Amino acid sequence: MKYDIKDIRLAENGKRRIEWAAKDMPVLKLIKARFQRTKPLKGIRLAACLHVTTETAVLMETLKAGGAHVTLCASNPLSTQDDVSASLAKHLKIPVFAIKGEDNKTYYKHIRSVLALKPHITMDDGADLVSTIHTKEKSLIKNIIGGTEETTTGVIRLRAMADKGVLKYPIISVNDAYTKYLFDNRYGTGQSTIDGILRATNRLYAGNVFVVAGYGWCGKGVAMRAKGMGANVIVTEVNPLRALEATMDGYRVMSMKQAAEVGDIFVTVTGDINVIERSHFTRMKDGAIICNSGHFNVEIALKELKKMAKRTRKIREFIQEFTLKNGRNIYVLAEGRLVNLAAAEGHPSVVMDMSFANQALSAEHLVRKGKSLNKIVYGVPQKIDREIAALKLSSMGIKVDKLSTEQKKYLSSWEMGT
Ligand code: ADE
Repeated sequence: MKYDIKDIRLAENGKRRIEWAAKDMPVLKLIKARFQRTKPLKGIRLAACLHVTTETAVLMETLKAGGAHVTLCASNPLSTQDDVSASLAKHLKIPVFAIKGEDNKTYYKHIRSVLALKPHITMDDGADLVSTIHTKEKSLIKNIIGGTEETTTGVIRLRAMADKGVLKYPIISVNDAYTKYLFDNRYGTGQSTIDGILRATNRLYAGNVFVVAGYGWCGKGVAMRAKGMGANVIVTEVNPLRALEATMDGYRVMSMKQAAEVGDIFVTVTGDINVIERSHFTRMKDGAIICNSGHFNVEIALKELKKMAKRTRKIREFIQEFTLKNGRNIYVLAEGRLVNLAAAEGHPSVVMDMSFANQALSAEHLVRKGKSLNKIVYGVPQKIDREIAALKLSSMGIKVDKLSTEQKKYLSSWEMGT
């Protein structure tokens, strides 16, 4: 079996950490037990490009239990947990191609290695498998039943492909499930971004001016948790509805130009490019900290910052100092890559349980129904979303009410008024 990882000797540590994560993933555990009995993915070749974390390992085990042949590469050069990739290779016998800190060339080489499986299903976090297949590995398309996509940025890319009529197989957008974005994007990104900044900097939040660029579900989570830690939170937005929502949620809303002058810590969570750029760097206070929790490292104009800096040096792990010609220092965390996965461990297992339950059940859905689907982006079927919510509640020991016959009748009628 081929694999490319940092060090196989890290496998025992990875195994123990995967076990720890699995304890907080009861929904996936139930799915795994059913998959083991019924083998819904029997004979299916599944190529995955995901953050290689303990939670992803639990998903890989689940897919394998369902009968799939799985290969895995990283969806970001800095998010791999090397002990996890070692355990995946050694204990789970999964061909894995991922090394934390790999350069861009290796990153794409690993994508090609995973695609050598000639997959029936692709599982993406950021759409790099789909985009590589559609540009450089077109011959693979004929085998493919469909794909799944984990994250907002990937879904934006895939919808653009579908709108232009170039998407060649159906995709299920896991990101659009309620049991994904309400919890993973909001509570997961919220907590893990705070965690990443803390681990990288050891800064006190209280009393700091904390600027969140983007008030989507991830931005909402980051702002909420920063506020909870005592920071004075500012939100920047381009969407008037979201800007209004942030205002009514109690945050100061202003342009990045204004925020640049007062912020102590900046986090981008927009999915777009150059959200913090040259004109903002020149306005920033000495000591400003900048980081990104969006999928790609494009939200901060780092090339510009490098050009503007008269000096740069590494201060400690995950902190790079840039000294500008005006004498001020700006600190960039984790090379502008996902700070929550690069400097911390990503979202906690308890939320990844639901996101990855959606992945597993969407793969099963593709096997059952893929041939009848069009070459567009679909949401996760509502039945799956509700089933995951019900299983999660039950795992938490929470009981909910049921509609009575009378209530059902009332809700389906229009004649009854006051
Ligand atoms: N994306 C965000 N957090 C993650 C995690 N813990 N595992 C895999 N993908 C993630």
